[in-house]
Amino acid sequence: MSVPVACPVPPYSTGDKSSFAWSSARSRWPVILTGVIDDIARTTMKTDGEEAAEGKILIEKFGMLKYEVEHDRELLPLEDDGLPDIAIYNEELQRQGPMTWCNAPWLYSECYLYRKLFGYQQMTKNWKDYDIFARQKLDAFKGSETAVAELAIRYKALSEQLDGSTSTEQLALLFREFIDISLWGNATDLSLLTNLSLDQLQSLQGAKARKESEKNILVNDVDKAWEAISSVKGGQVDLVLDNAGFEFYTDIIFSLFLLDAGLADTIVLRPKSMPWFVSDVMPIDLPVLINTLASQTFFTQARSELDYLVAQLMKYNDEGKIIIRTSSFWTTSLPYWEIRENGVGGGHEVWQSLLESKLVILKGDLNYRKLTYDSAWPRTSSFAVASGPLSTNGVKLFSLRTCKADVVVGLPEGKEAELEKEWAEITTAKGKPETGLGWAWSGKWAVMPFSSGGK
Ligand code: F6P
Ligand code: MG
Repeated sequence: MSVPVACPVPPYSTGDKSSFAWSSARSRWPVILTGVIDDIARTTMKTDGEEAAEGKILIEKFGMLKYEVEHDRELLPLEDDGLPDIAIYNEELQRQGPMTWCNAPWLYSECYLYRKLFGYQQMTKNWKDYDIFARQKLDAFKGSETAVAELAIRYKALSEQLDGSTSTEQLALLFREFIDISLWGNATDLSLLTNLSLDQLQSLQGAKARKESEKNILVNDVDKAWEAISSVKGGQVDLVLDNAGFEFYTDIIFSLFLLDAGLADTIVLRPKSMPWFVSDVMPIDLPVLINTLASQTFFTQARSELDYLVAQLMKYNDEGKIIIRTSSFWTTSLPYWEIRENGVGGGHEVWQSLLESKLVILKGDLNYRKLTYDSAWPRTSSFAVASGPLSTNGVKLFSLRTCKADVVVGLPEGKEAELEKEWAEITTAKGKPETGLGWAWSGKWAVMPFSSGGK
């Protein structure tokens, strides 16, 4: 049996008091499970017969799981639900040794949690494809109407300025702009987005505003990503997606820009194939996005700009220029170090498929955790070291991540102490002083490392 590549640095653990993993296991997971139980109960009330009976069984099983998490029970092998990735989870559990919810590698146990929920659904007849997080995703998207409208207006204005005469310098500026939109779409705090037209972007004042917002980007390889995009005409760009709703909307805007500008011929979207980490995109979320944006009642502001955006999206989708490809690899617990020639658990197939791309953009926090093995690297470690085999696997990748977990690498000497100080000042001013790693969990800072894959 081939095994995953080992990491020389220990993983973050839910047993480590100073980590975000600790509070995730103790505070966040029970809340998430309560939300899921509530969702199934609400849907079950509207069903009858076998579907309702199965709904009640799910409520019971999810309740039991919540109890086990709260009482720090052992993680047992996952029950075979007929899907092949169960074996990967169970081999990993055996390899990593016995663990309990509150003393386990964070990455493994968190993935296991979502896989276990999905496994329970697979044991039913009527709930196999039910998205237990759909309600939450839609509610959150509805709540972002103002930002949605603002971006639709901005996209139309910027894309209308694109024509044959757009210079490479202007395209590079727009690329940075749309990257920023997609990056901060992953944040909790959108205030770091600038709001500039192309003219303003080119002005001195625009450069100043951009510098201001860029100071929160701790590692910024956007120039290298631009080089990878602009050195090949057309071609394929891949987006390994993160969250549905507003973030997905910003990713789509970025995709439309690449196609409008001829910077790509095809965009491959890579969502998850099961409900994942609450808000992650599943294939169904593309039609859901199109329908919500097209609805005259879901969003009422900026209607003509939204209609324009939807028309562009549907056109590219119909032409096969925006396509979706799934793989069960994204919902294993394996780190992305397996995206290599001899990768296990589907890593080899994903590697082969990503080699076709001129740039693979990975969105969000969890993708970054998987790139870096979710391990306790010194903050000054280089991304090349922390991403292991990815630095030589031939895949050009660019991670757009607002920091919402423990792992962060690529910082210059002394930066961590500076960030701790700044975070202490921010939280003190808010009347809730905090020391330690809070800055890394807040979503206020970001990293955008690029890897050439050794090419
Ligand atoms: O905020 C905690 C957390 O659940 C992490 O476990 C996870 O990495 C992150 O949120 C998910 O964030 P994102 O959607 O950006 O991947
Ligand atoms: Mg997510």
